Order: sequence, then C-alpha cells, then structure tokens
Amino acid sequence: MNTKELYESYVIDSYGGRTHLALARGVGTRVWDEAGRSYLDFVQGIATNIIGHCHPLWVQRVSEQAAKLTHVSNLFDNALQGELARKLVEKAGPGKIFFCNSGAEANEGLIKLARLHGASLAGKEGVRYKVVGAQNAFHGRTFGSMSATPQEKIQKGFRPMLEGFAFGEFNNLASFEKLVDDSTAAVLVEVIQGESGITPATVEFLQGLRKLCTERGALLMTDEIQCGYGRTGKFYAFENYGIVPDALSMAKGIAGGFPMGAFWAAKPYCDLFHPGSHGTTFGGTPLACAAALAVLEVMEKEDLLTNVQKVSEVLHAGLRDLCAKYPELVVGVRGKGFHVALVAKDNLALVTALRASGLLAAPGGNGAVRLLPPLNASVGEITEALDIMGRTLSSMQGACRK
Ligand SMILES: Cc1ncc(COP(=O)(O)O)c(C=O)c1O
Repeated sequence: MNTKELYESYVIDSYGGRTHLALARGVGTRVWDEAGRSYLDFVQGIATNIIGHCHPLWVQRVSEQAAKLTHVSNLFDNALQGELARKLVEKAGPGKIFFCNSGAEANEGLIKLARLHGASLAGKEGVRYKVVGAQNAFHGRTFGSMSATPQEKIQKGFRPMLEGFAFGEFNNLASFEKLVDDSTAAVLVEVIQGESGITPATVEFLQGLRKLCTERGALLMTDEIQCGYGRTGKFYAFENYGIVPDALSMAKGIAGGFPMGAFWAAKPYCDLFHPGSHGTTFGGTPLACAAALAVLEVMEKEDLLTNVQKVSEVLHAGLRDLCAKYPELVVGVRGKGFHVALVAKDNLALVTALRASGLLAAPGGNGAVRLLPPLNASVGEITEALDIMGRTLSSMQGACRK
C-alpha cells in the first residue's frame, strides 16, 4: 500500500482540508515529498516549526536528551522543566507555568483557572463560572475548548457543549460590556484570531477588555497558541498592545514541532491551583523541555524577534503589491509579523495552485491564505515565495480571462 492507501484504510478521516501530499523530510523552510519534489514550506506544521525543520541545534539538543532521560512523570522534578518555566515567566511577568501537550489542553487549563477564580470570588462553586469569548474564535477540539469555539462546523454533532459560555463580537468592546457581569469568571480571546483568517484585535478592544475585566473582577485570559511565541515580532503577542493579561495559553511553536502546550497564570491567580487539582502524564517531560529550551536558545542566538520585525516588512510589502497587481484574485493583507493572511477571492483554489507551484500555504477563514514562515526565514526565502505567488496569480488571472 502507498501512503495515501494506508491513510484511507487505517487513519480516521476527521481532518478538513487534508491533501494526500506525503511529506518525507525537511530542512529549514523547505520540505520534500516522497517523490523527491521540494516545496517552500510556509505552513510549518501550522505555525509550529518556528525555527524551521530540523534546525541543527534543536536536533542536537533533542538527540542528546533522548539518549539521557525522556520521561519521568510529574511525581518527580526535572531541572529542564523548572528552567523552561523560569524563562517563560521572566518574559510574561510574575506568575507560574503549567505544562501540557497541546493547545486545546492549555485552554482547558485556562478554563479550569477561570472556574477556580470564580469560586474563590463567590465563596463557592457553581455561581460565578461564565467565560465570555469571541465570535469566530478557535480554541481547540476538547469539550472545554470546543465550547469556547462558537462555530457550527466545530460543534456540530457533539452537543451539548459545556455550559457557561457567552460570546461577544470580536473587536466590539460594547458587545463584551453587555456580557461581562457578576456571573463572569473570565474573558478568553485570541490576540489575533488565527483559524478564522488572521484578524488582529484592535488596541482599543484589547485595552478596553483589560479595563473591563479589572473593573468587574473577571480574569483576562489570552490565547496566544497561534499568534504568540515570536510570530508577531514580540515574544508574546500581548506585548504589542500595552496590556498584560492575567493568564495566557501557548502551544504550537513552544517546542519547535515537538508536542507541548503550556499556560501562564499571573500572581496571585497561579496559586489557585493546589496539589491534586490539575495534572497530565506527559506535561513538561525532559525531552519536550529540551526541545523547548533549544527553541529559546536559537531564538536568542539568531535574534529571531528582530528577524521577524525586519523580514516581515518585505513579506507584507510584497503581498500588498500582489493585491495591487491582481485585484481580481487577491484583495487584502491581514496580520502582523509572520502571522499573515493574503485575502483571496477563492482561497482554496489559490492554496491548491500555490502547492502545484512549489509553495505550501494554509487556508483559513474569511478568504485567508495563511503564510506562516518560520521565524528564521530569510529575505531570499520570502522573495522566492513572493515570486511563486506572483507567477501563480499571473497564470490564474490568464486562465480566468480566457
Ligand atoms: C488559537 C488557537 N487556539 C487553540 C488551538 C488548538 O491547539 P491544538 O491543535 O494544539 O490543540 C489552535 C490550533 O490551531 C489555535 O490556533
């Protein structure tokens, strides 16, 4: 059986938008399929391989750790988990970190934190537990994170959802003001809505939410799973807004492609958890932490935040030029840094055509063709991607006009 046949026979068919392109190896921004054809990879595991494929230092650190100690459980300490937590806390602010394995699980932790906070305010459970989220949000596929994701295509077939969620309109502060009340424990929003097409929060909106939450005693919790960890050119996406949330979730890029999630909770909320109140077998294993520490080491050594700030300007300018040149096909650019969407009239057709031309991009909501290069992408690689997009749009336009 070939890979496609194996998938069709043995892998549950639950992913929308999967193409049977079998990838076999990768180096940096490039991947090769089983037939040996190479692609410039601007999907990178959906914003996950933030230092590209198989960075030599990452490979070295992960290999060394795999030969030393892989997993011990959280019944024991491991120095790498402590060190990683320290580094992430230093970047976010006074507080503590909980490590888990995925984005959805990190958001589950935030929802549990909200419940603990509400119960501590009300003096008992079950009174103050509402979480106010945003329309078009995406927070994951577990029951808590799915309940926080008010989208028909995500929830259909799985109802009833967890109770206690309400949704305002993203970037409409007044709609949140109506929902955040005495029964609200927390507000949960993506700083930049990713899956629904890369829509950044406005500064007024996020600053307004910060003030609203402080006034009404609710936690402000941000989901930085897709937009955080350097992708905007700041380490955490909230740093672009002059606010600090009370808690945030991260995953995807944290271990450069190795499964890991985490949430940070500010002091004093981090102390709402007590021994026995939360846990997971694989959270913060020595191997995952070695991978994550290698990512931070590379980010620092190669000054990747500066790279994103500088090189993303070339990407954004090039995309704007493409919109000016091919207005019948592409109509706008959204996002910040290397968290970017080229907005297309038919985004699925464009993603398919780009793949045929050797560039991998990820579709998103609202017409998005998401371009998610690793944070160490060079000007040369961005220019190469823009050239591919230009050639592809030109031939699509030619085909339309025939
Ligand atoms: C903003 C956001 N939150 C949560 C998730 C869920 O993460 P995971 O797929 O690791 O569970 C995603 C995944 O795309 C995401 O983009």
